[in-house]
Amino acid sequence: MKLVVTGGAGYVGSVCTQALLEQGHEVTVIDNLLTGNRDAVPAGAEFVEGDVAEVAADVLGADPDSPRFDGVLHFAAKSLVGESVVAPEVYWYGNVVTSLALLEAIRLSGTPRLVFSSTAATYGEPKTVPISEDAPTAPTNTYGATKLAIDAAITSYAVAHGLAAVSLRYFNVAGSYAGFGENRVVETHLIPLVLQTALGQRDKISVFGSDYPTDDGTAVRDYVHVKDLADAHLLALHHATAGRHDIYNLGSGEGFSVRQVIETCREVTGLDIPVTDAPRRAGDPAVLIASSQRAIDELGWRPQHTDLRDVVSDAWDYTRCLGDRAHAAR
Ligand SMILES: NC(=O)c1ccc[n+]([C@@H]2O[C@H](COP(=O)([O-])OP(=O)(O)OC[C@H]3O[C@@H](n4cnc5c(N)ncnc54)[C@H](O)[C@@H]3O)[C@@H](O)[C@H]2O)c1
Repeated sequence: MKLVVTGGAGYVGSVCTQALLEQGHEVTVIDNLLTGNRDAVPAGAEFVEGDVAEVAADVLGADPDSPRFDGVLHFAAKSLVGESVVAPEVYWYGNVVTSLALLEAIRLSGTPRLVFSSTAATYGEPKTVPISEDAPTAPTNTYGATKLAIDAAITSYAVAHGLAAVSLRYFNVAGSYAGFGENRVVETHLIPLVLQTALGQRDKISVFGSDYPTDDGTAVRDYVHVKDLADAHLLALHHATAGRHDIYNLGSGEGFSVRQVIETCREVTGLDIPVTDAPRRAGDPAVLIASSQRAIDELGWRPQHTDLRDVVSDAWDYTRCLGDRAHAAR
């Protein structure tokens, strides 16, 4: 297929672009390099530097009788939960307005398919775990609210305009694939933060909350390997059906506490990782674990890397490689 990937210079987008190229697809990446890196765009993809809201219409064209592309995978977003609470305007504009512009470009160009990166944050504080797609959606932060609003817009475009759409609600993505991984200036994700601490790039790792009703008192999350996520995107592209918007949760189905993640990072790296306890963060639920049963049943998704050690080992290979590059550049 001929595909546009927005956000293909970022973490998940670069891994998915690489996986799409390996499957023989032609990929054009749109990215404004806000949080992404030019050298993360895989060789073999075309690169258009620009904001999705500004360049999508030009890239996709405006001849619905002869669409230039078979589909769009939309990863581009702002995704810092804390920032979204203090600067909601940046998120409503950057995520929702941008995605509406993309949906219009898709409609006017006659592009038939869309796969969208939604998130577990659309559910907010769950009443039961594991979380299925039928769980109530009640986001506790602006980031989650913007993703839920985009999901609603996609549903109405599917119904009214026949778009074939799939939203994938990822839980915590981690790991690396084929030399592509997490490399952000502002890092907030647990595994890269712990591994940067192991490398001495940070003094210590803060554990936010040790008094949760969990086995060791720290928050429990579901870590899904980024390559498994890429596989789900490939399946979603083929599954997407005109006039429908299907939503799937993607996680490993297993929860690990913050302390378990840190311990696994110690085992994998063989290094000391200093830890400090900090208060809970507002809106951080105790336990978030996905039920991915619908993706397993309907997409035929078979996650291969559900062992946390595998996820951490792949993340460590990438983080160490980045550390070596930074050292060599000094
Ligand atoms: N990483 C996770 O654990 C996780 C979990 C759930 C959902 N998600 C979603 O997955 C997607 C990818 O996440 P990620 O971790 O790879 O993020 P990332 O920040 O690494 O990548 C996002 C990319 O989009 C680009 N971008 C942002 N706004 C843009 C715009 N308006 N125009 C063009 N490019 C733009 C950035 O420069 C960056 O390259 C996001 O939509 C995110 O909300 C991620």
